[in-house]
Amino acid sequence: MRLSILFVPLFFFTAPAFAESVPLSGCLELLQARCQKCHYLSRVCQKVGEKSERRWAATLKRMVKRRGATLSGEEQEFLRDCLVTPDPAIKQECGK
Ligand code: HEC
Repeated sequence: MRLSILFVPLFFFTAPAFAESVPLSGCLELLQARCQKCHYLSRVCQKVGEKSERRWAATLKRMVKRRGATLSGEEQEFLRDCLVTPDPAIKQECGK
């Protein structure tokens, strides 16, 4: 009984730190977390499935280098691929 009382608060305190250190798994989650600071996701949605791989790579690079988006090289590659070939969550979000 005592043990479970100790465990509950511990879980709540450690959960946010844990969430931050784990890479975002889904494409949509990453877009929501990193791209909505400056514009609606609709701006991204407009181009989903429209741009080539090279053009998405260039756009993502511009968002990072010129506009100030936060994405590692790995995250840029991950997003590039899922913007060229959107997964079901992105399609649903974008109405495509
Ligand atoms: C720090 C602000 C900022 C963040 C964060 C940001 N953008 Fe942008 N984005 C802009 C601005 C400013 C423009 C309009 C000027 C331009 O096109 O460079 C824009 C325009 C765009 C466009 C339309 C123009 C085009 O080339 O198709 C797309 C698509 C886009 N952003 C995608 C993204 C994606 C994907 C992310 C997340 C990885 C992102 N942006 C994050 C500032 C930002």
